[in-house]
Amino acid sequence: MKTIIEPFRIKSVEPIRMTSVEEREQCLKDAYYNLFTLHSDDVLIDLLTDSGTSSMSARQWGALMEGDESYAGSPSFYRFKKAVEHLMPFKYLIPTHQGRAAESILFTVVANASHAIPNNTHFDTTRANVESQGAAAVDLVIEEGRQPETEHPFKGNMDIAALDRFIRERGAETIPLCMLTVTNNSGGGQPVSMENIRQTREICDRYDIPLFIDACRFAENAWFIKLRERGYADKPVIDIVREMFSYADGCTMSAKKDGLSNIGGWLAMNNEDWAVECRNRLILTEGFSTYGGLSGRDLDAIAVGLEEVVQEDYLRYRIASTQYVARHISEAGVPIMKPAGGHAVYIDARRFLPHIPPLQYPGQSLAVELYRQGGIRGCEIGTAMFGLRPDGMEEPAHMDLVRLAIPRRMYTQAHMDYVVEVVTGVFESRESLRGMKFVRQPPALRHFTGRFDYV
Ligand code: F0G
Repeated sequence: MKTIIEPFRIKSVEPIRMTSVEEREQCLKDAYYNLFTLHSDDVLIDLLTDSGTSSMSARQWGALMEGDESYAGSPSFYRFKKAVEHLMPFKYLIPTHQGRAAESILFTVVANASHAIPNNTHFDTTRANVESQGAAAVDLVIEEGRQPETEHPFKGNMDIAALDRFIRERGAETIPLCMLTVTNNSGGGQPVSMENIRQTREICDRYDIPLFIDACRFAENAWFIKLRERGYADKPVIDIVREMFSYADGCTMSAKKDGLSNIGGWLAMNNEDWAVECRNRLILTEGFSTYGGLSGRDLDAIAVGLEEVVQEDYLRYRIASTQYVARHISEAGVPIMKPAGGHAVYIDARRFLPHIPPLQYPGQSLAVELYRQGGIRGCEIGTAMFGLRPDGMEEPAHMDLVRLAIPRRMYTQAHMDYVVEVVTGVFESRESLRGMKFVRQPPALRHFTGRFDYV
């Protein structure tokens, strides 16, 4: 059969409150044109993030009831541990309440101001946690990964030659670990090939540097390997996942993505000394080592989520629905990052709105218009988010994108058809869109709480 169907039936539904353009215009005014300030029940299709927004399965809801809330040694922890180790067999496992908590603990323990951490591309929270130790966060993704229009099957790959050069010039003793983010969220949700993971490992071995994987979207990355990398078409996804992690010495994880859960994460590693220090830090900041800031029931939901996320029918549908939106809007002429990533479609707002200069935030203008016309909430990733320098001056970000991140198992094909219709409708009326300005902005992370208006 050609048609890929959602591999689930819907047992419990959550109504969407329909709104008119006029109502949404009022909501926008009340929110000062900042989509983070909207009330989410005023949003029709919420594509702000795929993080923590997955629909849980009936089995996960059932597992919640089995959750054991004992402070220490809960059976929920051991079910969680078994599920994680089935996929990623590291020696030490430290649960945390979400991904950035794992990053914070890891870098507090391993990094200091004389250090640098290379990565294909650091996600914002990873970068912030590296930099908060005074260390340098260095992005070494391949050249194609920085070019929105270039097609490449693994645009998340690490530039191996650049990594080798960087380590030689910087000195291996100043690099406590190297990271690979799979898929590469900040680079457009692009996958990393198995060959590239292996090569990264070889370089790390040459200089005796541990390799850690930022594993948030590991299952989507494994699916891309199966689809696109020679020799993997007939391998079960679970074996691909195990092979990916066999090259690593540890990982950080946000279970809010490929854990199919609404909260949770972990830190895992083989180094005992680091693990002991990380656990001590965990007890100080998150909780005891068998719950780490989560309730027992959350650990059970993750344990079941990890079984479900590597099911191939699920992954086939998941990636097909992202590609479906990308293909249809791209055929209508909408400029997007190519190829589409796993969890999101990134619209190139700078090319979509060439009449709006970067310092008038074309991404923000487009994101606001998608909400005004269709009630869709995406996220500007561009000059509003990154353009403010520490000295208070502004400069255009590397790209002006709008990310439409697709929550897992939440929306149907009809919702995606609606998204296509709204995006292409806004594209047809693109010349009427106007630039925007900040009317109030905090000194840091201004995109979260700043206020905008039209210029
Ligand atoms: N690493 C990557 C690659 C991520 O995408 C995220 C979160 C994190 C780490 C941090 O995990 O949110 O559980 O603390 N990404 C979300 C997003 C916020 O919308 O892309 P967290």
